[in-house]
Amino acid sequence: MKIVNSIQALRAEVHAQRMAGKRIGFVPTMGNLHAGHITLITEGHKHADIMVSSVFVNPTQFGPNEDFDNYPRTLDADAAKLEAAGCHFLFAPPVDEMYPGDQDKWAKVVVTEITDRHCGAARPGHFDGVSTVVTKLFNIVKPDVALFGKKDFQQLAVIRRMTTALCFDINVIGVDTVREANGLAMSSRNGYLTEDEKARGATLYQCLCSAKEAIQQGERDYSAIAHAANEKLKAAGFEPEYFTVCRADTLEPAVASDTDLVILAAARMGKARLIDNIDFQV
Ligand code: PAF
Repeated sequence: MKIVNSIQALRAEVHAQRMAGKRIGFVPTMGNLHAGHITLITEGHKHADIMVSSVFVNPTQFGPNEDFDNYPRTLDADAAKLEAAGCHFLFAPPVDEMYPGDQDKWAKVVVTEITDRHCGAARPGHFDGVSTVVTKLFNIVKPDVALFGKKDFQQLAVIRRMTTALCFDINVIGVDTVREANGLAMSSRNGYLTEDEKARGATLYQCLCSAKEAIQQGERDYSAIAHAANEKLKAAGFEPEYFTVCRADTLEPAVASDTDLVILAAARMGKARLIDNIDFQV
């Protein structure tokens, strides 16, 4: 695997592969990689000849009081994991390669509506930062396919809309969440949890599964479902942020006649803000 730090060098490498007739797959990350990220690379091999991944902790998607400074930076370990997964190129630019001077103030990509709720409401500006950096990365790598985890369900929806609206000729693939044995969704931020918090953290997925089961058995009082889940989360030591039954396409709150659903949840546990979801049809 080649590690490349500049936009120009990565463009040259990928261009040579494309000229050789190779299909390019891309997995953007912020590093501190876990099995969920590696699954994206493994899945990418089914759709592309050459896999490119990026490790870039993107400052523009963090709010002023968020964990940008403390976000774990583990480039050597990440490179080893990507290499073992058969990744061909790792793009690891410094911040001033992606945002030289005050370029972060010149332009940004804003995806409207679908970003108004849930994590968009809780983290103002977060999705503008995500869609801006993913646009830049898409323009640098120009992949045929790009893979994102379904754990960040709203992020995936935002990127799908952005890809369609801005005419990127890229197939965006969502990949199932990888979980710990107790059901806790794998996340780079799980490192902020103690062992005890990790054990109690499994309650988040249990609540999602119970809510799905209730809906599949005919319950349509979605506020009652959310209330029951929030009480269970509080009892497990969580500070719930949202737990909402939504339409899977628009992420608007679902009504009884909707059939394609996703339950989106966010809750704080100790130093971590955890998000998870479950999507299904009724
Ligand atoms: O999901 C992430 O790790 C980030 O939001 C992404 C897509 C790499 C953009 O910085």
